[in-house]
Amino acid sequence: MKVNGRHFRTIWLKEGAGKRAVQIINQQILPHQFEILDLCTVADIVRAIKDMYVRGAGLIGATAAYGMYLAAYEAGEKAFRADIENSARLLKATRPTASNLAWAVDAMLTALDLPGAGLAEKRKTALETAEKIADSDAECCRRIGEHGRGIIEKIAEKKNGEAVNILTHCNAGWLAFVDYGSALSPVYAAFERNIPVHVWVDETRPRNQGASLTAWELAEQGVPHDLIPDNAGGHLMQHGMVDMVITGADRVTRRGDAANKIGTYLKALAARENNVPFYVALPSSTFDFTMLDGVAEIPIEERDAGEVRFISGKTSGGAIETVQICPDKSPARNWGFDVTPARYIMALISERGICEASEEGIGALYSEGNSLNFF
Ligand code: MRU
Repeated sequence: MKVNGRHFRTIWLKEGAGKRAVQIINQQILPHQFEILDLCTVADIVRAIKDMYVRGAGLIGATAAYGMYLAAYEAGEKAFRADIENSARLLKATRPTASNLAWAVDAMLTALDLPGAGLAEKRKTALETAEKIADSDAECCRRIGEHGRGIIEKIAEKKNGEAVNILTHCNAGWLAFVDYGSALSPVYAAFERNIPVHVWVDETRPRNQGASLTAWELAEQGVPHDLIPDNAGGHLMQHGMVDMVITGADRVTRRGDAANKIGTYLKALAARENNVPFYVALPSSTFDFTMLDGVAEIPIEERDAGEVRFISGKTSGGAIETVQICPDKSPARNWGFDVTPARYIMALISERGICEASEEGIGALYSEGNSLNFF
């Protein structure tokens, strides 16, 4: 997508003069500064995922895939398999909730299972597979946009030229993937076709991915939007100011329970109470067909309490600073995600199409289930 009118992906490879670096947009300092970082080792990649220089389900997966590509260069010839399996373990341990991470690392391990092949061939395969995973992520998101646009178009037909009001939570735009995004891809596709849209952007405490990333993305693409406090959604729905909700997902079970950024569940409850359709958009790599009951089974990341106790932003002088917002003695807890049960989800939008959030609905689109191989 565009930054200052120039096309960027969120991750790409820079190679030359015997040097290789994975380049990323530093999401820790957006929207105040736009910075590109070089990640040159597996340790750099582990830190970038853990400390959220990159974040969002699809981008975490693609970054881990490039991490495995770097692992293939760090591995010794004799202990190649043991070395890359060790890197795989380190990468998988960075963040627990998004299924794309383990999926991408496992896909790299499978592709690198090349008994008899030399080091050069293994490294070449590592590069090709990582690029394929990144390209597939972008293409899946583009197609999610095409499918989701139809839903927005239908609502627009009934609004006599008035904008379709779409509420979203967290950031499931292009910054959360390699390109396009999941929840925001239908919005971009509709906007491109001149369908009037307007987005209510939840700020998304504690890390404010809505305020700092979703709002920035939408502003860069010129999409009309307003930032709202996390607690405003219910009020807007009661007053007919939300036509639909679209969120992304970090892991979706085979019956359609969806883990997404903390607070999503409350939006789904408010949407049901107010008859507002609630959609979840995801690429296939976000499904976890080994799980059924999302509330019981999906691991929920608990992050540092400091993310709740402190907040950072730009001062009037332009410096980025962090301030404490609670008493010195107050502890805090910080769960990163919650699970919205399938019964609150109107439909799932994936690159394969739109389906009911149920075992039957998902099964009709994904008959291969666990043996899914789509890139
Ligand atoms: O903790 P993050 O920023 O990596 O959170 C993940 C997310 O961006 C959201 O939960 C998002 O809506 C789904 S990921 C596309």
